[in-house]
Amino acid sequence: MKRLLVGLAAIPLLYACSETDTTLSSPDGRIAVTFTLDSVGTPRYQVDVDGEELISPSELGLVAEQWGLSSNPMIVVGRTSLNEVWTQPWGENKENRNNYNEMAVALQDSASTLTVRFRAFNDGVAFRYELDVNGVDSLTVTDEITQFNFAQDGESWSIPAHFDTYELKYQHLPLTEVADANTPFTFKTNSGVYGSIHEAALYDYPEMTLRRDSLSGILTADLAPLPDGVKAYIPAKFVTPWRTVQIGAKAVDLINSAMILNLNEPSKITDTSWIRPQKYVGVWWGMHIGTQTWKQGPQHGATTQNAIDYINFAADNNLQGVLFEGWNEGWENWGGSQHFDYVKAYSDFDIDSIARYAAKRGIELWMHDETGGNIPEFEAVLDSAFSYYHSLGVHTVKTGYAGGFKGGYYHHSQYGVRHYQKVVETAAKYQLMVDAHEPIKETGIRRTWPNMMTREGARGMEWNAWSEGNDATYLTTLPFVRLLSGPMDYTPGIFDITLERAKKDPNRLQWNGDNTHCRVHTTLARQMANWVIIYSPLQMAADLIENYKGHEAFEFFRTFDADCDASEALQGEIGRYIVIVRRAGDRFFLGAGTDGEARTLSQPLTFLPKDVKYKARIYADKPGSANDADYEIHEREVTADSVLTIAMNPAGGQAVTFTPVK
Ligand code: NOJ
Ligand code: CA
Repeated sequence: MKRLLVGLAAIPLLYACSETDTTLSSPDGRIAVTFTLDSVGTPRYQVDVDGEELISPSELGLVAEQWGLSSNPMIVVGRTSLNEVWTQPWGENKENRNNYNEMAVALQDSASTLTVRFRAFNDGVAFRYELDVNGVDSLTVTDEITQFNFAQDGESWSIPAHFDTYELKYQHLPLTEVADANTPFTFKTNSGVYGSIHEAALYDYPEMTLRRDSLSGILTADLAPLPDGVKAYIPAKFVTPWRTVQIGAKAVDLINSAMILNLNEPSKITDTSWIRPQKYVGVWWGMHIGTQTWKQGPQHGATTQNAIDYINFAADNNLQGVLFEGWNEGWENWGGSQHFDYVKAYSDFDIDSIARYAAKRGIELWMHDETGGNIPEFEAVLDSAFSYYHSLGVHTVKTGYAGGFKGGYYHHSQYGVRHYQKVVETAAKYQLMVDAHEPIKETGIRRTWPNMMTREGARGMEWNAWSEGNDATYLTTLPFVRLLSGPMDYTPGIFDITLERAKKDPNRLQWNGDNTHCRVHTTLARQMANWVIIYSPLQMAADLIENYKGHEAFEFFRTFDADCDASEALQGEIGRYIVIVRRAGDRFFLGAGTDGEARTLSQPLTFLPKDVKYKARIYADKPGSANDADYEIHEREVTADSVLTIAMNPAGGQAVTFTPVK
């Protein structure tokens, strides 16, 4: 029998080993995680919800060349708990409660300590490995053997595991049929428990995917490797990211959970006054639909004249930022040698006068840095380029990694994770917010680095421009899978649903062969609803400004506030429908969406403060219309006692603004 030392805060006690000594319960007592060590020294954990096994005993562990866990370690257990409310400069909710019980199980021998730190929240469990190995400087991690052994079958929603991209379609599979998956990995067990496996605080370590182990048949951590096959080179004293299992009784509980953020450290940026959520437009969609080009030429998008038009449109429509893609030299090499110049503007883009004009009109310029995957070149100029943007008064940089990384590194490997973090920290030095495309997955680091605003990391709007696109089931799955990890720069809001303007352009360029069938696969009202549903503190109106000018429905975005104070997912089922409300000041914005089925939902407005009258301005699908661009606008007076009937056409939605009646 092993020795088990239990430390309850400051009072360590010596116990005999028994399973109950290493069980940790959530504050409400409904979720329990239990640690065990068997006679040959294999550590395991198990998760129970309301007394029923959710995750059966599952192995824990890391494999490193210079270190191995002793088969008979001393076990020291420490416990603590926390219940606090913390605030952030922006987010779905500016205030968050962090309430957990913690148990640190330290496995010690003369040469090393491996601590498995568990936290049990009312909305899930998390654990991480903390290594402290004597006598060596660094460790070569060759594997992580964390298992997720589901006690019963159920449904699951995820994208397949891929170390280079997240821009993949969802697989909706029985839990027992998943061969591999990336996280967030969302599930519903046959007994009705909702959950999602992910990770939190990913630094200096590869991403975790899940793969069914051929021997055990259990879904097991599979880390993105480096080119030499090693998973990570880490210091001898190291803390891994958290492995997380969010748990809820309803599908929307997963969205309303702040567990991933709670597992991250408080902000390292003290002055956050320059970090401001905003709405933006950009010279962008034209390139994807083939009416403009990134590189200089007759159809160049980022010209001085277009810049002035976009700045004027932003200023006239209560938007704060304008993005320009294709402003800098190097696009001629995209897809080839991937060599971009991060400071030299094309000769038809007069950057100094554009920056001056933007400042005069109170609009922020965004810089775009596509790297094509050439990390060494980008890192070499990172400081000087960011310092230059700062001198232009720029506060946002959109990065891109469309192309394989030089040197054979995976985007999601330890090398990639280090690079993405270096960009965030360098950007913070120059007061730049980051919007990363082809990014590493979000694991809540925005709490610690609140300039890491938003990122792509899933199939975004662009796919509708040059492929079969994203259907309505994809869009109703997104909030319960990718969006659990954090904000997404999906770039919503295309009003020219069937891309008529592009189809009429005789000079339209074709991507992927033939673009003529391409369109956006929702109704127009749903495009508006997505501004609310798909949370991003930097929220784009992605269409060409010509398609918004004079359009009555654009009023929704003009009055929308990307800087919300609080949010709640009100109802929804994964892949079927979703209703979300966000409050900004004394106004509320609601977004609802359905899959390919027409659907009518009843939504009590209990989120409104009692005894206050609100004007609800409702942007709805035109009932029964086969034309997806058809919409209706209604107004009615409502209170917290009212019930909103949300009628949606197939692939439809509804967007509502609630303004107090003064
Ligand atoms: C892919 C990004 O997701 C998109 O937004 C961008 O326009 C292109 N790469 C070019 O950088
Ligand atoms: Ca992309």
